[in-house]
Amino acid sequence: MKLAGKTLVVTGVSSGIGAETARLLRERGARVVGIDLGEAAISLDGFVKADLSEPRAIDAAVRELPARIDGLANVAGVPGTAPADRVARVNYLGLRHLTQAVLGRMPQGGSIVNVASILGAEWPARLEAHKDLARTADFGAGLDYLARHPVAQESCYQYFKEALIVWTLTQSQPWFLEHGVRMNCVAPGPVMTPILGDFVTMLGPDRVSRDAHRMKRPALADEIAPVIAFLCSDDARWISGVNLPVDGGLASTYL
Ligand SMILES: NC(=O)c1ccc[n+]([C@@H]2O[C@H](COP(=O)([O-])OP(=O)(O)OC[C@H]3O[C@@H](n4cnc5c(N)ncnc54)[C@H](O)[C@@H]3O)[C@@H](O)[C@H]2O)c1
Repeated sequence: MKLAGKTLVVTGVSSGIGAETARLLRERGARVVGIDLGEAAISLDGFVKADLSEPRAIDAAVRELPARIDGLANVAGVPGTAPADRVARVNYLGLRHLTQAVLGRMPQGGSIVNVASILGAEWPARLEAHKDLARTADFGAGLDYLARHPVAQESCYQYFKEALIVWTLTQSQPWFLEHGVRMNCVAPGPVMTPILGDFVTMLGPDRVSRDAHRMKRPALADEIAPVIAFLCSDDARWISGVNLPVDGGLASTYL
């Protein structure tokens, strides 16, 4: 993987998949600047503490980021046990706001990787609604749209991961053509991180036991990070606009 010399920004760097991604990217020679609400727990080349649910906090964080950013890994996220408004802000609106703000600093060959989820797999069922949300111009317009089209608490995590996949797929080609910047999603299945228990609570025992019989085990964070790193690297230079499952085959069992 060609990562040496790149400056990469990783969100959600203080825990789980984000921490492992940052560690791996640095090991492969990249310079990594992390963003998180919590303190960084690993060595980084830079760290900005910020709440990615607030556009003003995101703008302030962007002012502290390097002038040239070769890649952005949007890993930060909250489970559906958080209030729906927070899930909307962190998992979709804030991610999109940060990405739009950073795009102008990315050279040709830049890469954006968004961490979606296997739980976003049903995006085709609500495609038109997700396209409408994707067309909202900014964070505030997105909030206004969601005030007019409220999302149920029970399915908010799934809804905003679906929305993230649809925004990624629809926005990737214009940015690839205009800026030479690629954008992709990875869609993990269950991963052994501190929020795995929240997903069990969120999905309930029936769904969890059905999935448990279809998979070998939950992934480890170090089985997701290399795929994010690959998509950040020049080896993936012709991959754009995909949602890549990283789930040990679980999604294939839903056919
Ligand atoms: N763990 C799983 O089973 C699983 C499965 C599929 C997808 N995902 C996704 O993977 C991503 C990483 O999750 P994880 O499992 O590593 O969880 P985690 O809780 O270990 O890490 C999430 C990180 O995001 C940060 N964060 C949350 N809200 C924030 C905010 N407002 N501003 C800044 N930082 C914030 C947290 O502080 C934390 O460091 C998330 O987007 C999650 O939805 C996780």
